[in-house]
Amino acid sequence: MLTAEQNELVTRTGPGTPGGAMMRRYWQPVALSEELSGHGDPIPVRILSEDLVLFRDEAGAPALMGLRCPHRQTDLSYGRVEDGGLRCVYHGWLFAKDGRCLEQPGEPADSTYASRVRHTAYPCVEAGGVILTYMGPGEPPPLPGLPFLRAPAEHSYATKVLHECNYLQGNEGNIDPQHVSFLHRLKSPRRANDRAVNVIYNDVAPTITIEESPFGFRTYARRHVDELTDMVRVTNFIMPNLSAFVGTPRIDPAVQPRDENDGCQHHWHVPIDDTHHWKYVIVHRYAGPIDRDYCARECNTQGDERYIPRRNQRNRYGQDRDDMRRGDTFIGMGMRFQDHDKFATESQGAICDRSLEHLATTDRGVITMRRQLLEAIAAVQGGEEPLMIERVTGADPLAEMVVRAAFVPKESETVGFWRSPSPV
Ligand code: FES
Ligand SMILES: [Fe+2]
Repeated sequence: MLTAEQNELVTRTGPGTPGGAMMRRYWQPVALSEELSGHGDPIPVRILSEDLVLFRDEAGAPALMGLRCPHRQTDLSYGRVEDGGLRCVYHGWLFAKDGRCLEQPGEPADSTYASRVRHTAYPCVEAGGVILTYMGPGEPPPLPGLPFLRAPAEHSYATKVLHECNYLQGNEGNIDPQHVSFLHRLKSPRRANDRAVNVIYNDVAPTITIEESPFGFRTYARRHVDELTDMVRVTNFIMPNLSAFVGTPRIDPAVQPRDENDGCQHHWHVPIDDTHHWKYVIVHRYAGPIDRDYCARECNTQGDERYIPRRNQRNRYGQDRDDMRRGDTFIGMGMRFQDHDKFATESQGAICDRSLEHLATTDRGVITMRRQLLEAIAAVQGGEEPLMIERVTGADPLAEMVVRAAFVPKESETVGFWRSPSPV
């Protein structure tokens, strides 16, 4: 559990909050590339409780600035991209993508007022199907060394899912491997013969070991297979709101046998405000192009074009009790894991009251995550860099990010088993 004060610290991320100051030290996704398809016309976006406008400049590069015009607060997402910036359509003020005011057509010709107006603006980069921004002070740190940000676009599939709850609840679900044995339990012909899936369903009490690292920590979930063999799965928590794990197959298993270790999946939980977040779902294949149609079918949640799933709290996630009685799924909410996770985390409350919890053995990852976040908040308050931000040495904290599923001999080590691979 956390005290009420600690819970406030780790869940509030708006401007001026300690948690918000910490989150702003890291690059964050602000939209999918596909949201700026076509001309890349301006769209309103909300992130970390700030209302912003995102658009492509005349060269096609993404640009991000405050939503409301500094003159008299008109919405700039209705504006025009022209003359090297974004022009407000109320009185024609023009803003460069770095926030400089370039023109004030109604002012006297000799006025220098424009040079004294500076609009909010944040740098952006685009990679792996995602547009990322840095909203903190000073020069941005290097982009995180995630493989999908360095690979050709066709190696990844990216989408997002609206969650009507605080970001930390979704964040915590990713490093809680035990829930997979229950929440995501389902009968499907495709999974019936999947060895790893059956191990997860059979051993519902995995041994969970945490290994802290320069980027956050690795969670090892170890399950019994038979007298000689265990299965170990490694999930990474990457500061402050991202996880990397084995996840969805990258190629349809009906077409090509599943290779669990040919790529990874990321869940990046980005606050819209304190009671809503976007869960960015990014599936990546290391060695070649991904089967995008298959991944879209697996990852999408039958939502509408605004990434809002059809199953939600207003229709009780379409829970089907007959389905549960038949045993087709454990929770009666269809076959998509995204829907299951959305239900589990939203139903904890808009902001979960962690002072009421009774944490257990399998919550080791949750406990470690919260401690690392609180330490990062304290570091920023103390004028230091938080965990994983490395500006000085150039070292890549993610150099040893390991996403792995393996069957291992009973007597083998858990922590660091991947350093000397001996799968059985
Ligand atoms: S409100 Fe934007 S130019 Fe006047
Ligand atoms: Fe889950």
